[in-house]
Amino acid sequence: MADHASANPNPGRIIALLNQKGGVGKTTTTVNLGAALAKAGKRVCLLDLDPQAHLTLHLGIDLAETESPRSMYDILVDPDCTAESATINIQPQLDAIPSEVDLAAAETELSSHPDRQRILLHKMQPVVDQYDYVLIDCPPSLGLLTLNALSLAREVFVPMQAHFLALQGVGKLLQTVGLVCQSVNTSLRVTGIILCMHEGQTTLAKEVVADLDDFFTQARDQNVPWRDCQVFLPAIRRNIKLAEAPSFGQTIFDYASNCAGAQDYKALAKHISSTSSNINDATTSDGKLPEVEITTSMSSTTVEDEPALASSPPAAPADVTDGNVT
Ligand SMILES: Nc1ncnc2c1ncn2[C@@H]1O[C@H](COP(=O)(O)OP(=O)(O)OP(=O)(O)O)[C@@H](O)[C@H]1O
Ligand SMILES: [Mg+2]
Repeated sequence: MADHASANPNPGRIIALLNQKGGVGKTTTTVNLGAALAKAGKRVCLLDLDPQAHLTLHLGIDLAETESPRSMYDILVDPDCTAESATINIQPQLDAIPSEVDLAAAETELSSHPDRQRILLHKMQPVVDQYDYVLIDCPPSLGLLTLNALSLAREVFVPMQAHFLALQGVGKLLQTVGLVCQSVNTSLRVTGIILCMHEGQTTLAKEVVADLDDFFTQARDQNVPWRDCQVFLPAIRRNIKLAEAPSFGQTIFDYASNCAGAQDYKALAKHISSTSSNINDATTSDGKLPEVEITTSMSSTTVEDEPALASSPPAAPADVTDGNVT
């Protein structure tokens, strides 16, 4: 098992932006948090690991016009394609590795690869030390692409909306990360929740945030990979400029640098820079994970009892076998 967390005494942070629920703000956060960190002087690389290629579109990358049109698909499928050859410089301090829809085929093409869940880790290892932050935009599913992200990452940030049903999804997500921790990446930790499209004045949002705070406070005493997780502040307010920026192929700082969305992501980047990655030795690799239960002031649900959400992609895995999420 590759244990890259110990390879460098002062490593950068490698963070997967993960939520199996679609449309919660993963891509918007990856792009604009990354851009804010780069503006603050950090060296940042954004990885598009979603076949929807929304991060690539958001950054205004047209692969057909690039000199060497290599993408995430090539990195995963072509043994000779290096991460460096697929890296595009977007602006000072900000690089990206783009994707295209063909990335969807990689999951099938790699199904018989003996080390299929760690290809991204091996390809990125020569370059990660060049960056202070590597941010990985994950697809809204828990298949092989996501598993590659979780093998490379040291941390998971969970973008979410403060809705009641979202709490159930977060419980399932934590359980999934716990399973990955026990198999392919014992260093992995869930370190932050990012509240997106936040409407903080509503009673519902306040209750959900209070429930999350209670849940993570209780987890501090447990031997689980989310024991150091915090609900990051500030929350990202709902702001129409953030929804408009992708169609111009621009980050929020290039599109509307003074809007509320730009202010929120700038403040969030400052807060995240002030936190450590909270990597500790609280491994759960040989212990049994507790059942993840987020008790809400409105009702109580457990992961195992959770009904599939109508709007969600396929249910989270019940097990990780052969290094693959099943
Ligand atoms: N704070 C915000 N205010 C307004 N609109 C937002 C905000 N954050 C994201 N959006 C919009 O919400 C939609 C979903 O956001 P985004 O694409 O970032 O979610 P996602 O989790 O990456 O989705 P997917 O699961 O499909 O990859 C997009 O149209 C985006 O522009
Ligand atoms: Mg997305």
